[in-house]
Amino acid sequence: MKRILFVVGARPNFMKIAPIMEAMSRYANAFEQLLVHTGQHYDANMSQVFFDELGLPKPDLNLQVGSGSHAQQTAQVMQRFEPVLLEYKPDWIVVPGDVNSTLACALVASKLGIKIAHVEAGLRSFDRTMPEEINRVLTDQISDMLLTPSEDANANLRHEGIPQERIHFVGNVMIDTLVRLLPKAAERWPTLAHYYGLDRFVLVTLHRPSNVDRTDTLAEIVHALNTIAAEIPIIFPIHPRTRKRIDSLGLTLDQQRIYLLEPLSYLDFLAVQAHAQLVLTDSGGVQEETTYLGIPCLTIRANTERPVTITQGTNILVNHNTGALVTAIEHFLDPTFRRQNNYQPPRYWDGTAAERIAASLYNSR
Ligand code: UD1
Repeated sequence: MKRILFVVGARPNFMKIAPIMEAMSRYANAFEQLLVHTGQHYDANMSQVFFDELGLPKPDLNLQVGSGSHAQQTAQVMQRFEPVLLEYKPDWIVVPGDVNSTLACALVASKLGIKIAHVEAGLRSFDRTMPEEINRVLTDQISDMLLTPSEDANANLRHEGIPQERIHFVGNVMIDTLVRLLPKAAERWPTLAHYYGLDRFVLVTLHRPSNVDRTDTLAEIVHALNTIAAEIPIIFPIHPRTRKRIDSLGLTLDQQRIYLLEPLSYLDFLAVQAHAQLVLTDSGGVQEETTYLGIPCLTIRANTERPVTITQGTNILVNHNTGALVTAIEHFLDPTFRRQNNYQPPRYWDGTAAERIAASLYNSR
C-alpha cells in the first residue's frame, strides 16, 4: 500500500486535488491517503465552501499559516510541514499548481528524500517577476513525477532538461471537476439569474499583484470597469486583497452597474461564468475554464503560462488601460465569438485526467 500525502493551500488547489483523491479511492487497498491544508487561504468563502461543494474530505491536518510576505508565508509552511513529513513518512507527496504552499512543501519533501508528484507541471509564462513562475520552475526542478495538462508544458519541461520518463501527460484535472459539477452548477443558475435580474453581463475577477498592487494600474482598471459598465452590467466577485486595495486607495466602482460580491463558491462561480457574455480576468484557472466552455475571455496580463487558451481562440491578452480594454470588449462581445458547434477543447481536457494521475501513481515505484 502506498502512502500518499496531498497538499492544498489556496483556492485554486482544491478543485485539482478533489478528483485525484476520488479516483484513487476507487483502487482497493492500493493507497492510503492523507490531506494537509497549509491554511494559506483561510476565509470561509476562500476555503471551507470548496471542501463542502467539491466533496473533499476534511483535512487530516491544517497548518494554519495564514497571510504574510512571500518569505514569511513560504517559511511558515516549510517549518510546519517538516514535522508532518517526519511523522507520517509518506511515499509520495502530491502538490498542485503554483502557489507558495506548492513550492514550500515540495522543498521540504525534496530535502527529506520523499518523492514529489507535481500536478499542473510545465506551465511557463517566462516572466520571472511573477511569484507563481518562480514557484512553477523550482517545483518542477525538484519533482519526481511531472503531471502535465497540455502539450506546451511537455515541451517546456523537455527544454529544461527534465528526463522524458518523469513527464506524464495526463491532461487538465481542474476540468475534471468542471465536467463533474457543471450540471449541478446549471441547477443553481435560475435562482442566481432571478436574483441578479441580468441576462447579459460581463464577469470580472482580479487579484494578481501586477494589477492590484500598483496604484496607477488599479486606478486605470477601475476607470475601465466603470466605462464598460455603462454599456453592459458587470458581476465582480472580489478577492480580499483587491477589496482591501480599492478601499485603501479610495477608488470608487459604479455600484449601480457593477455587482460587487464576496468571493463566490465553486458552483455559483461556475454557474455565473457559464452564462457570462464575456469574462475579464487575470486568473490562470479562469482562462482554462472559459476555454473549456468556449466563452470569450480577456486576460489583463502581458503574458500567460497557458498559451493553449490563446491558440484555442477563446482567450486574448489585453493591456490594463481603459482604451485597450473598452476596444477589446466591444470586439469580443460580437456574437460570432460564441462557441461554435464543432468546438473541441484541448487534448485530455476531458474529465478523466484524475484517472490518468491515479494510474501513474499506482504504477510508480
Ligand atoms: C494566491 C496565489 C495565486 C492564486 C491566488 C488565488 C501565491 C504566490 N499566490 O494569491 O497564485 O492565483 O492565491 O486566489 O501563492 N486573504 C484573505 N483571506 C484569505 C486569503 C487571503 O483576506 O483567505 C488576503 C490577505 O490580505 C492576504 C492576501 O489576501 O495577505 C493575499 O493572499 P495570499 O495567499 O498571499 O495570495 P493571493 O493573492 O490569494
